[in-house]
Amino acid sequence: MRRWIGTSWKMNKTIGQARAYARGLRAELSDRGEMLDRVQPFVIPPATALAAVTEEMGPLANMAGGIRIGAQNAHWEDSGAWTGELSIPQVKDAGATLIEIGHFERREHFGETVETTSWKVQAAVRHGLTPLLCIGESTQIREAGKTATFLLDQTRGALSALTVEQMSRVIIAYEPIWAIGAQGRPAKVGELREPFDVLAHEYGGRTEALLYGGSVTPGNASELLGIPGVNGLFVGRSAWTLSGYLELLEVAAAPENP
Ligand code: PGA
Repeated sequence: MRRWIGTSWKMNKTIGQARAYARGLRAELSDRGEMLDRVQPFVIPPATALAAVTEEMGPLANMAGGIRIGAQNAHWEDSGAWTGELSIPQVKDAGATLIEIGHFERREHFGETVETTSWKVQAAVRHGLTPLLCIGESTQIREAGKTATFLLDQTRGALSALTVEQMSRVIIAYEPIWAIGAQGRPAKVGELREPFDVLAHEYGGRTEALLYGGSVTPGNASELLGIPGVNGLFVGRSAWTLSGYLELLEVAAAPENP
């Protein structure tokens, strides 16, 4: 199984910066095609740069054995009076075949709820996009011993309306809130075993992939990929430079990380 190694650039990069990154990535991946036998890369640019990144990736964009391009968010309705929003058909038109749903920052700052994640997941599968559902608990929930229940509430709430076939297209990214971003602290492998046991028991083999995210670096990627149930990594800061992302792809493709 190819490992999913992807990055969301969050609210970073101009169109010019995004083009430069994508051009470099295309050149590297074209030179090292064997890497694509072992990893499934994906990039999630800001919406303003989606079309440009898709164009720069050329024949690698969204092709089997190539790189998947995603959007960081989209509305559940196909069109209408929703000022400031983008619809799934619109991000699809700009090149996205994957859609990030329910990232902690959207839940925290923009009112994303389990209910809205469920509507977005259903809209994504209706349009043939891969939903990348992000879940994760706070420190308080973890300390109260309620992580497993909380994660299952988030996933079941978002995914319960799907058919078996639709479920097989979903990617779940487990990203504990306390491990994300500049304020986060890297998780210890031991802290991630139970959540992945729970997720793998419920979703392993039934979904496209289970990913880990939160303070991933080239230095800890290998041990994170070794956690049972983990099929890939979802990365922020460490992959915002092309060299950082390439390092991560190399770690994931290395033969010593079977
Ligand atoms: P980080 O972000 O790698 O910068 O911690 C991860 C995420 O928010 O998905």
